Amino acid sequence: MSALSVLLFLRKTTRTNEDKNSLVNRERDMTCMMKNTTAVAVALCLSAAPAFAADVEVLHWWTSGGEAAAVSVLKEDLESKGTGWVDMAVAGGGGDAAMTTLRARVTAGDPPTAAQMLGMNVTAWADEGFLGNLNDIADAEGWDDVVPPAVQRFGKYEGNWVAAPVNMHRPHWVWASAEIFNELDLEMPTTWDEFFAAADAIEAAGYTAVAMGGQPWQEATAWEAVVLGISPDLYQSAIIDADDAALRSEGIVESFEIMRKIRGYVDDNFAGRDWNLATSMVINGEAGMQIMGDWAKGEVINAGMTPGEEVLCGLVPGTQGSFLFNTDFFAMFDVGDDKKEAQLQMASAAMSPTFQETFNLAKGSIPARTDVPGDNFDACAQKSMADLAEATANGTLFGSLAHGHGQPPAIQGAYVDVVTQHFNSDMSAEEAATALADAVAAAK
Ligand code: BGC
Repeated sequence: MSALSVLLFLRKTTRTNEDKNSLVNRERDMTCMMKNTTAVAVALCLSAAPAFAADVEVLHWWTSGGEAAAVSVLKEDLESKGTGWVDMAVAGGGGDAAMTTLRARVTAGDPPTAAQMLGMNVTAWADEGFLGNLNDIADAEGWDDVVPPAVQRFGKYEGNWVAAPVNMHRPHWVWASAEIFNELDLEMPTTWDEFFAAADAIEAAGYTAVAMGGQPWQEATAWEAVVLGISPDLYQSAIIDADDAALRSEGIVESFEIMRKIRGYVDDNFAGRDWNLATSMVINGEAGMQIMGDWAKGEVINAGMTPGEEVLCGLVPGTQGSFLFNTDFFAMFDVGDDKKEAQLQMASAAMSPTFQETFNLAKGSIPARTDVPGDNFDACAQKSMADLAEATANGTLFGSLAHGHGQPPAIQGAYVDVVTQHFNSDMSAEEAATALADAVAAAK
């Protein structure tokens, strides 16, 4: 049995019930043995921890307070196993700037060891032949048995694991200030009529009704939720199938009408505002509501508040019973054999059940494995877990367009451009539906 096989075997046989520290120490020792073949070198290794040979340079876009807290969970976990972390953080919610930097690095022949990536980006990079193969660790650890098929679809390319999934985010939430809602005696809205009635009351009391950041991906996050809320069938046909007739339909016109109404409740300073600053407005009781993914919950937790108590969570009107998801993956670039062990170590660490629990408690998402108990999660995450099971059974689980799981990058860009153009102009809803169908047809 090779040293790597022994490491994989140790991890497989101990992952459920053995003391984690002893596993970490044994892994460190085994790793040493893999790097050093003489008896003397092994002896030195055993006494000089941490001994993992390589560093991993990780490109990611987790730079807000809550995101940074989640990153440090992974960094510390790896460092405890002797793998150094070289941080390559590229600020910018949704990851657009990070993906531009990644492309530039790869084009210059200098890819990072690992990169955070959303579903269809994983597929695109794998398609170009840049990603390494994680099957050794995935098979040894039984990823096929614990990762939901909807997530596997993006983590695997042509049957091979190429990226490790760390979470399942849900982008279609409404976050609300409990302080403002209590003061005004409001309930979490479940229809758009209730939403706009609450918004009127919040505005009349002198607060910003809807905290929003004017960046294309944030507007797209709201729009896709509006479409899902009109009907899951519309999400399927207009977004997942990119069907031309569906894109020109009354439903899509209605989605733009709702977006126009939402725009009326956004404050004047929203242009360019980062999503986490909009979340802060809700946390600080300056704004009543924000439509945003559950990474916003990471900010709530980071502010020392309890999600579901000081900041309330509800779903975007009409989306109860459905589930949009986006998963953050770590994809490993094919950067040579000397980094391979550290990459497998990172993939293994990111997939361990204990890590997935700790990380997702901070990140606001739920684990990408079905075998992590929900007991320690807050009420909003527990709702996500229950809703995920229900939506999976009902066929109403869909990938998020705004977050890379609905369409390949070029077609996704066509949607986002029209949504943002409409939101930031006086374009009519009918014109927007036509422009959208035309743009998607051109991008296909
Ligand atoms: C990512 C999240 C991230 C959010 C805001 C999403 O696309 O999946 O992990 O927190 O963008 O940056």
